[in-house]
Amino acid sequence: MGKILVTRHLPEGGLDPLRGHELVQRGHDVPYSHKELLADVADVDGIVCLLTDAIDAEVIAAAPRLRAIGNVAVGYDNVDVKAAARAGVAVCNTPGVLDETTADVAFGLIIAASRLFGEAERDLRAGRWQGWAVTQYLGREVHGATLGVVGFGRIGRAVARRAAGFGMRVLHHARKDTGEPGYLASLDELLAEADVVSLHVPLSSATRHLIGRRELALMKPTAVLVNTARGPVVDEQALAEALESGGIFAAGLDVFEEEPRVHPRLLRAPRVVLLPHIGSGSRQTRTRMARLAADGVRAVLAGEQPSNLVTPPAPRAPA
Ligand code: GLV
Repeated sequence: MGKILVTRHLPEGGLDPLRGHELVQRGHDVPYSHKELLADVADVDGIVCLLTDAIDAEVIAAAPRLRAIGNVAVGYDNVDVKAAARAGVAVCNTPGVLDETTADVAFGLIIAASRLFGEAERDLRAGRWQGWAVTQYLGREVHGATLGVVGFGRIGRAVARRAAGFGMRVLHHARKDTGEPGYLASLDELLAEADVVSLHVPLSSATRHLIGRRELALMKPTAVLVNTARGPVVDEQALAEALESGGIFAAGLDVFEEEPRVHPRLLRAPRVVLLPHIGSGSRQTRTRMARLAADGVRAVLAGEQPSNLVTPPAPRAPA
């Protein structure tokens, strides 16, 4: 049985797969600092962590016994997977259990941003609503519009399925040709065509600021941008400018470049709906995510091949 560091609180039952192992958990649920992580990984065999934990090469080097990391998220940009593989550490994530839940939030943001829910609710709560008027809160129609899905993995496809129910025309862009109807090899072309652009790519050096000033300028002034992927996929400064100048119509964001900080200009920008990274946030889904990450760690320590392995570790040198 191994010693497992669990960096944050998880939903009830989330750690069931690790029953029998020694679990190290703090009483309070706040992100670990880098320094605290370095100290607390020194003698652990496994880590169950969140996307708020930077598991970098230094942390991995500080954990000589470490064999498995279970990241309770499908995105694993917070883990240095190359350093982990080199050190013989397996990294597991949570694919397949949050697609529909995250797609619900993406579609919610598509509607909320297009129909100005944020602005309208803020006015109502602040007592600024003077009663119904024909020319007030005139949003963009979602039904029948053209949706551009950027990144056509499981979540992107789940959003596309929802769009079909709204009679939307769906285009998609991905690195590799999907061979499916609506595929556009050119992201620029998708940006110029779409009424709504929804982002579903993982964060990597190739997708950092994928949507910047140039890309926002390609979008229609009536277009809506939705990001439920990772904050740094969008240049927030450029987005705030585009919203302020009317370069695009509206935006819906569930993720930010430097969470939990939100760019101050985005907080002030018009026609933007902001959510605190709740894409996968249902009790059922978060429990499934925790169990899957924990089960990956369990499997590695038991000498099994987990189904949710991100990178197979390099063979470890004999002790
Ligand atoms: C959440 O953002 C995830 O990657 O699962």
